[in-house]
Amino acid sequence: MSDVDTIDDVELFYHSHPISLRQILGKLKQKGIAFGEPGTLLDPETLQEHDQDHFGGIQANDVLADLAGIGRGSKVLDLCCGLGGPARYLARHHGCCVTGLDLTDSRVEGARALTRMTGLDDRVGFVRGNALDLPFEAASFDVVIGQEAFCHIGDKRRLIFECARVLRRGGRLAFTDILATEATKPATHARLEREMTFHALGSRAGYEALMAEAGLQQDCFEDLGRVWEAILADRLAMYRGLKAQTIEAFGESHFRSWDAAYAFFVGCYSTGELTGGRFLARKLND
Ligand SMILES: C[S@@+](CC[C@H](N)C(=O)[O-])C[C@H]1O[C@@H](n2cnc3c(N)ncnc32)[C@H](O)[C@@H]1O
Repeated sequence: MSDVDTIDDVELFYHSHPISLRQILGKLKQKGIAFGEPGTLLDPETLQEHDQDHFGGIQANDVLADLAGIGRGSKVLDLCCGLGGPARYLARHHGCCVTGLDLTDSRVEGARALTRMTGLDDRVGFVRGNALDLPFEAASFDVVIGQEAFCHIGDKRRLIFECARVLRRGGRLAFTDILATEATKPATHARLEREMTFHALGSRAGYEALMAEAGLQQDCFEDLGRVWEAILADRLAMYRGLKAQTIEAFGESHFRSWDAAYAFFVGCYSTGELTGGRFLARKLND
């Protein structure tokens, strides 16, 4: 698949994802929470139950922030930021300034709208772009983070080199991702690519070699496979709980194919065909 085809299928996947701006606002309305009225700010604590599209919720943000030493005034790039949940959380709870970048325009528009509603737009901004061609000068950031998104990007070498380029000397790359294992069958790779738009899933060894090549010294790695197995069973149940909204937005057959694809993905954690990893690396030189 070419880069362009890959981008098209990832964007389509996220345009028709069960979690969306519309779905989040619908949930808030259901709960009787006011938003969008002049003079009323939406409480980010309420929003954060709905706007985190990675595994492990806000605790996973805290672990990455602590690992990467994110603090007051840190300049952070959240690569593949989705609807901006982690970016808002890090700015509010760790005092940093965050730029979120995402490929999918509906994600970027949603991230901007939710951030305006919470009044965090003085510290959190969003850019539409491709992680393979970052629109930032070299050495622009103290920290680059990414959560459950690099799996969509086939050219891992270019991705890691772009992360290294935009980090300042001593800057940190902290990310979590879905990883292939030695047990991952070719048919599983093919099905996850077709149904979940995971392109050339990375492995622990693959990322470690690329980071070393890009001048990033690895400080730690944690295998998250067992932890994610439980979290993913809950996420599958959560998506099933959104059945009515998903059918209303995209139709019954979309819900059925999503459900089958996600159930297959989650099952790969029980069979050991997939795992997850948390990486931290530091840029050695300019
Ligand atoms: C699972 S979501 C994760 C969102 C966010 N990290 C979070 O935790 O809420 C993956 C995101 O990666 C974005 N993405 C995929 N490929 C990308 C690329 N090449 N460049 C930028 N963003 C990309 C998708 O549009 C999607 O919003």
